[in-house]
Amino acid sequence: MNIENSNNIGIVGTGFYVPEKVLTNFDLERIVDTTDEWIRTRTGINERRIANEEEAASDLASKAGLKALKNTNTNPKEIDLLIIATLSPDHFMPSTACITQHKLGLKNAACFDLSAACSGFVYSLFAAESIMKNSNYNTAMIIGTEIFSKIVDWKDRNTCVLFGDGAGAIIIKKGQKGKNIISINFGSDGSSADLLEIPAGGSRLPTTYRTIDKRQHYLKMEGRKIYKLAKKMMVDSVIRALDKVELTRKDIDLLIPHQANIRILKAVAKKLHLPLEKIMINLEKYGNTSAASIPIALDEAVSQGKIKKGDIVVLTAFGAGLTWGAIVIRW
Ligand code: ACO
Repeated sequence: MNIENSNNIGIVGTGFYVPEKVLTNFDLERIVDTTDEWIRTRTGINERRIANEEEAASDLASKAGLKALKNTNTNPKEIDLLIIATLSPDHFMPSTACITQHKLGLKNAACFDLSAACSGFVYSLFAAESIMKNSNYNTAMIIGTEIFSKIVDWKDRNTCVLFGDGAGAIIIKKGQKGKNIISINFGSDGSSADLLEIPAGGSRLPTTYRTIDKRQHYLKMEGRKIYKLAKKMMVDSVIRALDKVELTRKDIDLLIPHQANIRILKAVAKKLHLPLEKIMINLEKYGNTSAASIPIALDEAVSQGKIKKGDIVVLTAFGAGLTWGAIVIRW
C-alpha cells in the first residue's frame, strides 16, 4: 500500500465537553411550531445541549482541551500550536484560540482561529499537520467549539431545531510509531456561499438597528440544497482521499462524519456501501454542533472502544462556504 503523507504525526488523545443544560425536542415544541416527531424523523435528533448565558466558545473549548491534556498526560507548556475551529467565536477579535491559550496555560503555543464552518475541525487538523511537517513544532492541540444557541434564530423552526452547543479537542504529536495521517482531500465552492450564512454583523452589512430588526445577524440556511450537497461532497471527498493511497471503502474501520442529519449519514453509508456499525453516530444526543461534532464523536468513539490500534479511521465534513473535506487516519 502506497502511503501518502507518511510523516508519523498521529492523534494521541481526545476530550470533549458539552454544557449541562439539555434542550429536548419536547422543549422546542414550546418555543417554535414544531413536534418531536418531525424533528426525530427528519433529522434523527432527540436533544441538544445549550450553554448558559455566561458561557462563551472559549469556556467550552478550554474544558474540552483540559480533558485532552489530562487524557494524554501532556504538560500545557508542551503545546506548540493551538488551532480553534469555530463560527461562534467569543469575539471577532481577539481570536478564541488566544483566549483559550490563556485559560489552559499553553504558554508556548502559537494560536489562531480557523473559519471553515462545519468543516472547520478537519480543515484545522489538515492545517496543523501541514504546519508541523514544515516546522520544529512537535505537539499541537486542535479544538472545535461552538455555541450555536447564540447565533440561531429561535423564531426560525427551519434552523433552531438542528443545532447544539459543545466542544471537542484532540492532541497530535510527531514521531508516533504506527499512527499516521495518511491522506487528505479538501475542497471549497464560494459560488454557493449564500446557501448558509449569517448576513449581518460583518463588514458587508455592519450591525445596525435595521439589521437587528430584520434578524439578519442570525444564521440563514437553504436546508434542502445543503442537504443534497452535503451527501454528495462527503462521499466524493472520502473516495478521493482513499483513492490517493490506494485504499478502498472496504478498508474503512470507522467513518466519523460531521453529525448534521441522520438521513445524510445513512445516505453517505449507503453510497459508500458501509454498514451503519462502521459509522459513528451520536447526533441524537447533541444535534449538529458544527465544528465540534467530529472531535466530540471521535472522543466518544474512543471511550466506547470503537477504535483499535492500527484501524483506518476516516473523518469527513461539509459546511458553509461551501467547504468540505476528508482525512484518512491510521490510528
Ligand atoms: N418543524 C416542523 N416543520 C418544519 C420544521 C420544523 N422544525 N422545519 C421545517 N418544517 C416544514 C417546512 O416549513 C416545510 O413545510 P412546507 O412543506 O409546508 O413548506 C416542511 O417542513 C418540509 O421542509 P423541508 O425543508 O423540505 O424538510 P426536509 O425534509 O428537507 O428537512 C432539514 C429539512 C432537516 C433542514 C434538511 O433539509 C437538512 O437536514 N438539511 C441539511 C441542513 C444542515 O444540516 N445544515 C447544517 C449546516 S451544513 C451541514 O452541517 C451539513
